[in-house]
Amino acid sequence: MRMVDLIAKKRDGKELTTEEINFLIEGYTKGDIPDYQVSAMNMAIYFQDMSDRERADLTMAMVNSGETIDLSAIEGIKVDKHSTGGVGDTTTLVLAPLVAALDIPVAKMSGRGLGHTGGTIDKLESIPGFHVEISKEEFVNLVNQHKIAVIGQTGNLTPADKKLYALRDVTATVNSIPLIASSIMSKKIAAGSDAIVLDVKTGAGAFMKTVEDAKELAHAMVSIGNNVGRKTMAVISDMSQPLGVAIGNSLEVQEAILALRGEGPKDLEELCLALGRQMVYLARKAESLEEAEEMLREVIRNGKALEKFKEFIQNQGGDPSVVDDPDRLPKAKYLIELPAQRDGVVAELVADEIGTAAMWLGAGRATKESEIDLAVGLMLNKKVGDPVKKGESLVTIHANREDVEDVKQKLYESIRIDDHADAPVLVYDIVT
Ligand code: URA
Ligand code: CA
Repeated sequence: MRMVDLIAKKRDGKELTTEEINFLIEGYTKGDIPDYQVSAMNMAIYFQDMSDRERADLTMAMVNSGETIDLSAIEGIKVDKHSTGGVGDTTTLVLAPLVAALDIPVAKMSGRGLGHTGGTIDKLESIPGFHVEISKEEFVNLVNQHKIAVIGQTGNLTPADKKLYALRDVTATVNSIPLIASSIMSKKIAAGSDAIVLDVKTGAGAFMKTVEDAKELAHAMVSIGNNVGRKTMAVISDMSQPLGVAIGNSLEVQEAILALRGEGPKDLEELCLALGRQMVYLARKAESLEEAEEMLREVIRNGKALEKFKEFIQNQGGDPSVVDDPDRLPKAKYLIELPAQRDGVVAELVADEIGTAAMWLGAGRATKESEIDLAVGLMLNKKVGDPVKKGESLVTIHANREDVEDVKQKLYESIRIDDHADAPVLVYDIVT
């Protein structure tokens, strides 16, 4: 088999066989096929697309390029939730204990944040003592005993994806549905769960800026998952404005605690229920989505979800008293208000810009090596659709520096107040 022939085949719009896709990915991972040929292949895929079968083959070839996590020692149906990334997206912190409280095993491998998007591990590490550096054995034991554990990214998972993604980044081929879908799904499948619920975000703060693009990506990922034997479904949700009201690590832990008590922001609660009911249903704990949702509401009402969060914190070395006493979480030195400059209705809160403002305070990383400040961030006092009076606070800035003029300026640029606003949509579609 010669790589040049495969490039020509794809360039001319023909379908690659399973063997050809395996040859490409194995050869590239080993270093036998050079970057320039794979660049040309990526560009051919970008223009000619891939069939469902090719997409599934590409995904499995990337899964098989490295280690995979074996969760078979964990009893029950393991359901993973994956978000394509957003600003103030507190859902994992809420969903993990919420679903585990229904005896559904949550074996979560998570990452750190980069750029304007936050990472679940950083958020959890704002709880004093909490750590994710646990062995695979400990991870499996915790999930079997307590139904919940979070581990940092370990092992050499999907090395082909790492190499391909870096190459796509510098050859203008990131934005290709078959390449994005196989990249994300390969990582999820290598992480070992039986079923996958995807939260595909759309809007300014998301990778997919339009609902149409988000739907196309969601369909592509759901189809890959189902074709390789993992039950998969997707929720398409809004990320034009940040989710909930808290953006920042310890602030989002506090927001999650409120949500687990049933006192969280409406949009966060609604999205957690939309994702959670799919997880409960895929785990076959409920006969219908309605029943699944009722079960989730019940563990919020009766306090079991909050108890599960405490248990989870304790198991991983954290101080569970933060749940009843959030003052024990890291706190910023200065609280600075951002007053509205006119009367009106909040018409826009541009998610990625607000995420960038939080990053400037130190809540997120500009580069992989940046240190983050777990205490700082933003609390939104108004969301899209809320009326506001001149002088009223739009945002409370939690900072560890006194001068935040740069952040204020950025926030004013990303918040639009108008005479009226369209009602925000939270969930656009469900793809199964
Ligand atoms: N995120 C990924 O993990 N892969 C892509 O290709 C794009 C976004
Ligand atoms: Ca939030």
